[in-house]
Amino acid sequence: TQDPLVIFTPTGKRGRFPVGTPVLTAARQLGVDLDSVCGGRGICSKCQVSPSFGQFPKHGLTVSEGALSGWNAVEQRYDEKRGLKPGRRLGCQAQVLGDIVIDVPPESQVHRQVVRKEAALRAMEMDPATRLVMVDVAEPDMHEPTGDFERLARALSDQWGIAEVAIDLPVLTRLQPALRQGEWRVTLALHQPRDGAPHRVTAVWPGFFEGPLLGLAIDLGSTTIAAHLTDLATGEVVASAGAMNPQIRFGEDLMSRVSYAMMNPGGDAEMTAAVRGALATLAAGLAEESNTDQGRIVEAVVVCNPVMHHLLLGIDPVELGQAPFALATSSAMELAASDLGLTGLAPGARVYLLPCIAGHVGADAAAVALSEDPGASEDLVLIVDVGTNAEILLGNRERVLACSSPTGPAFEGAQISSGQRAAPGAIERVRIDPVTREPRFRVIGCELWSDEEGFAEATAATGVTGICGSGIIEAVAEMRMAGLLDASGLIGGADRTGTPRSVPEGRTHAYLLHDASTEGGARITVTQGDIRAIQLAKSALYAGARLLMDEIGTDTVDRVVLAGAFGAHISPLHAMVLGMIPDVPLDKVTSAGNAAGTGARIALCSRSARAKIEREVQRITKVETAIEPRFQEHFVAANAIPHATAPFALLRA
Ligand code: FES
Repeated sequence: TQDPLVIFTPTGKRGRFPVGTPVLTAARQLGVDLDSVCGGRGICSKCQVSPSFGQFPKHGLTVSEGALSGWNAVEQRYDEKRGLKPGRRLGCQAQVLGDIVIDVPPESQVHRQVVRKEAALRAMEMDPATRLVMVDVAEPDMHEPTGDFERLARALSDQWGIAEVAIDLPVLTRLQPALRQGEWRVTLALHQPRDGAPHRVTAVWPGFFEGPLLGLAIDLGSTTIAAHLTDLATGEVVASAGAMNPQIRFGEDLMSRVSYAMMNPGGDAEMTAAVRGALATLAAGLAEESNTDQGRIVEAVVVCNPVMHHLLLGIDPVELGQAPFALATSSAMELAASDLGLTGLAPGARVYLLPCIAGHVGADAAAVALSEDPGASEDLVLIVDVGTNAEILLGNRERVLACSSPTGPAFEGAQISSGQRAAPGAIERVRIDPVTREPRFRVIGCELWSDEEGFAEATAATGVTGICGSGIIEAVAEMRMAGLLDASGLIGGADRTGTPRSVPEGRTHAYLLHDASTEGGARITVTQGDIRAIQLAKSALYAGARLLMDEIGTDTVDRVVLAGAFGAHISPLHAMVLGMIPDVPLDKVTSAGNAAGTGARIALCSRSARAKIEREVQRITKVETAIEPRFQEHFVAANAIPHATAPFALLRA
């Protein structure tokens, strides 16, 4: 008679196995993705499966209850202690006795697909570089003079088939106490950058350690830093935090930081120390907020522009300040977190930096490409990631182009008279009545006194402290639509606008958005200087996009994706009224939220995504804005609001 047939769902992988084969063994032999941390000792429960019984006409099978062995003592004990869900079995304990169909639920798969919360229709493939492995190590013996690590390596080979393993000193120093405390059983975090590469032990825990392992996805911007603490098994964000980049005190934008490094001996090292310190503080804060041990953080992925990239690595960015803008390296990097001063994490934690595209187009643009995948788009898509520097990608299946444009920090609320970071108290959305010219706005953290859409009359607003990037963009666009501002960007005085909110400010005028004396909170105005800062920023953004369109030989794009830390908050209408982006039908403008941060998270959770973006950046054509005379022409032409060629009809939309 034939051996029993085992069919795994959902993959459909099948094979015949001798009676008595554990389900986990059958799965491994067929290459079915079934997780295990304890190596089949009935401890971790990662190997849970759901056997199915009954008729399976599709497979021509009738499966009886007796096709799987009953609970053994190990499974019984596990169920008593931790409880198994109804219908679930431990794959390492249940043995095949007859033909059977076995389902592997998503949570038992290492390479599962998870839905990306910020883009519900998109899935993200889990393929983490670090996994947990429990191992029993032989005790030392007077007759066999091998070290603890050598016996650990032998156990990994015998119990897990892992042939090559390395360990760094900070982890080695913890190995001996862990082995003894765990009575020769330890759980290791094993890092393998790609299939077939040697493994590295990055953390060790005595006995069985359940996890979860965590990673940090870091979007290191020139003005702000965002970090997401992520569960490496599920891809879920456990906690997020943001901070200002402390390098701001050395210069607001990238070029001023490069010149700080040029003018001040040791200036680059000062900036390196500042940003590394900020990352370490963010990591510690996130661990504390989520009530978890920083030692569980075994990996981090950082995306940033080239100057931030070099300063984080401790490389003098001076070459990036002058043509031909040579990077020290444009390749992806994988290194020890301790090399970057991130010492509070797991002792051997690793950091992955995405590849840079060119001297001005960094790993942040690569992350946006990973998240938005323009190279897979049927239609021509323009992706703009708005920050202190705008990353711009244009492309479709045939080709993808990228450039970076120096928008300055105005879009992030910096260099704006009442500007502040998007934090409680910041005005984030603005509406101005075109008839009364009275403002309504939405303030972060002050939803109490507002209408269903979150807007409130300025007179009802309390606790207002400033205006953030999305707020200033909407304010300027609304001022234009309400006739408070002409096409050249000049704010009219009360005699022209008819509202007492047009107040004199030096030799120009400002619009009084929030009056501290009668409305409480801070006095917030949009000044002529603010309008000019926004005009410069949006002209740079628009000119970058036009330059890529010229390069591809087109006057139009099919759709626009707005990304960036506040991309989710800019309304397409306001972006278009301002002339930030080329004209497309409004329903063709979508928001991708913080695409660079999402790209960082995708790379954090998936080795295959890292390999993919390393390949893709080779295909992306870089366009250098700094040396391209047409950039200047487009920049000047884009100064008007909206811009020179935009249909005025938009203003009445
Ligand atoms: Fe750990 Fe089955 S493999 S309980």
